[in-house]
Amino acid sequence: MDRIRITGGIPLEGDIPISGAKNAALPLMAASLLTDEPLQLANLPHLMDISTLANLLTSLGVDITMEGDATEDGHIGRVLTLTSGDLSGATAPYDLVRKMRASILVLGPLLARAGEAQVSLPGGCAIGTRPVDLHLDGLTELGAEIELTDGYIQARAPRGLTGSIIRFPKASVGATENLLMAATLADGETVLENAAREPEVADLSNCLVSMGAVIEGIGTDRLVISGVPHLTGARYRVMPDRVETGTFAIAAAITGGDLTLRHAQGALVNAVTEVMERAGVETWEDEDTLRVRRNGSAISAVDVITQPYPGFPTDMQAQVMALMAFSDGASMITETIFENRFMHVPELARMGADITISGSSAMVRGVKSLKGAPVMATDLRASVSLVLAGLAATGETLVNRVYHLDRGYERLVEKLAACGARIERISD
Ligand code: UD1
Repeated sequence: MDRIRITGGIPLEGDIPISGAKNAALPLMAASLLTDEPLQLANLPHLMDISTLANLLTSLGVDITMEGDATEDGHIGRVLTLTSGDLSGATAPYDLVRKMRASILVLGPLLARAGEAQVSLPGGCAIGTRPVDLHLDGLTELGAEIELTDGYIQARAPRGLTGSIIRFPKASVGATENLLMAATLADGETVLENAAREPEVADLSNCLVSMGAVIEGIGTDRLVISGVPHLTGARYRVMPDRVETGTFAIAAAITGGDLTLRHAQGALVNAVTEVMERAGVETWEDEDTLRVRRNGSAISAVDVITQPYPGFPTDMQAQVMALMAFSDGASMITETIFENRFMHVPELARMGADITISGSSAMVRGVKSLKGAPVMATDLRASVSLVLAGLAATGETLVNRVYHLDRGYERLVEKLAACGARIERISD
């Protein structure tokens, strides 16, 4: 199994191209199931999760072709053309779904287009129980008949879906996306209240509109969808990855470096740059770049609470904790979105971090330095927080279970090495 070896202590300097957003790309790919015409998606990141969903879609009969998409600075996003002419089936099997929880995103579009869907109950990151009740309750509201048998969600809508008013008891990104896609082909109007406002939901909405869907309230927590009989093909460019942007911003801060993040949208990471500014890190935003610098100043301790967008993202909690491990004070980090999302804490502690967990909060008392160590993590963002800690620690850090990183960070080692990091991937 591959590992990443880092020798820390080097301030990172240079430019990093930001890839297309994984969490926007996945629902956009699932949206191809809604039409029999080609959907061309540009700026897709080259990631394991994207390949996993491509395999699942292929097994459902979607024809997928791929090309490169180079920009002037050599950044290559992928262009996928997905054509769901005749669907060959409506079953998403366990073997494919267990690799990635986001596979549940095929449920809504399959049901809307084919009138039936069987999707294995999902697996994915080990961060809490992560139920799918909001997806299923919402689809039931649209008239689907749903049963859970043998580990599968069996959904049927033989007479099609019908618009309805759905008020989510809790904002969920995935449930909003599934319901949004299903509602585009439902009969009549659907209102989604307390919808997730994450930018990836808006990206999906904008793509659906370019496919002929009628959606009002994009970017708000109330989406009104007027169903149409069919959608068409379209071309759409995936938004930049805000979690990757935030992660590299913290890489600059934690190493006392100076990084310019290209193809980024600073506005998408305001909650993160705000915390960094309060910590004493300088940030500058331009049209499509974000520059982040820490010039020898100490890192001030800042309290952080994860919240739905536009609050501080749960997907950046582990990374900001790595930064706070080096602060000159004590920082309280509270996780409100997922239970069991502190798996990076014992690993950071192995490197010398002083962190105490109490319920959903972690008290991080800053230390002068961390020491490299062999570490292991069990989810995507936890793994990258260990890479960040390793970049700033003294000595050598070995990060095990690199496959978590391959799920969500495109060319992570190459991008960091190009800015001076002593980092390499080693295969056993
Ligand atoms: C998405 C992101 C993930 C991010 C998360 C929160 C993708 C592919 N993944 O995950 O990176 O961390 O948003 O920003 O976009 N919940 C229920 N019932 C449900 C669905 C969710 O109780 O049916 C709960 C979850 O357990 C969690 C909360 O709602 O506590 C938010 O989860 P949700 O927004 O659905 O996360 P995902 O869409 O899975």
